[in-house]
Amino acid sequence: LDNGLDLTPQMGFNNWNSTHCRADFNETMVEGIADIFVSKGLKAAGYQYVNIDDCWALPHRDAAGNLVPDPVRFPHGIKAVADYVHSKGLKFGLYSSAGSATCDVQGFPGGLGHEQQDANLWASWGVDYLKYDNCNNEGLDAQTRYKTMRDALNATGRPILFSICEWGSTEPWTWAQPVGNSWRTTGDISDNWSSMISIAHQNQQLAPYARTGAWNDPDMLEVGNGGMTDAEYRTHFSLWSEMAAPLLIGSDLRTASQATLDILTNTDVIAVDQDTLGRQGTVVSSSGGQVVMSKPLADGGRAVTLTNENSSAATVSTTVQTLGIGGASSYGLKDLWSKQTGSTTGAISAFVPAHGTVMLRVTPGSPVPPPTGMSALSDLAW
Ligand code: GLA
Repeated sequence: LDNGLDLTPQMGFNNWNSTHCRADFNETMVEGIADIFVSKGLKAAGYQYVNIDDCWALPHRDAAGNLVPDPVRFPHGIKAVADYVHSKGLKFGLYSSAGSATCDVQGFPGGLGHEQQDANLWASWGVDYLKYDNCNNEGLDAQTRYKTMRDALNATGRPILFSICEWGSTEPWTWAQPVGNSWRTTGDISDNWSSMISIAHQNQQLAPYARTGAWNDPDMLEVGNGGMTDAEYRTHFSLWSEMAAPLLIGSDLRTASQATLDILTNTDVIAVDQDTLGRQGTVVSSSGGQVVMSKPLADGGRAVTLTNENSSAATVSTTVQTLGIGGASSYGLKDLWSKQTGSTTGAISAFVPAHGTVMLRVTPGSPVPPPTGMSALSDLAW
């Protein structure tokens, strides 16, 4: 959507994957996340949006038809939370549904038929981001419903990032570029390897549809929620970055381990996601559970993922020709997780643990000097 927002994929937090509608989704949590964005280096790493999901409102509108924040979860209202988030130099997002009710079984009021009233209220609260779901849509045309909210947000005059969440059911990648800043491409992610990797496979097919300001969204991150190994979480974070996906942290950062924070703040991997060329990586080879992706970067190089989807370690190989950058006499290499550097004349090969991913930056003609104290690696020795 050409609204000047989301020129690189949005980065932030959303509470859904860690709390769903439990009582610990409340003002204290949300403001605590904003604090941690600053104190633990997440803001510095590029995370900007602190977003809340379903269950923030009361089940009924007030007499004037306005949405009402749940006074138990948000005793000072939503505007106070947005003000707090803004005071940290961050942005604030919330959730609704393009239907008569939201997705939770309690069915909080949705935006259908109330688009301008709701958009105006949110703008008055200082909302910077809307995730707009698809439940209880009464069978009405999706494009019409999402365009109506796009126009309502635009009419407020406040810049509000518009995140479409209709789970890929009407192939939004074919129509949503002028409607939203991102669109969900799949059903909901769960915190396990098979869910995460099957969503990756679906989203990998959609690279041609992503562009600056309009991104495929394979759902929010599960990194740190406990259902995958750290190697699997590194694969999750690598693939989402390789696919130029929104990076929305879905774990409760107040209890996050150092390993979780280390994954989420890997600025080399984040730089791939945020690369200004705005291209989603594509699968360049896939055989026997060994999947190689290549993402063109603004500097003329490629970000490469070597993923081993099998349950025992294996060597995964590719070449610069396969990556689409053959022709130079040498290439600089940087491993974005181990930070090792080196060079190659064309062959690239890495030993990859079970369910792991080695992620490299491959740059024609520019050997990268190794960090102090590390030796450079040569062809095939990765
Ligand atoms: C849907 C969405 C989820 C979440 C829930 C909230 O399932 O896909 O991301 O927002 O609704 O009820």
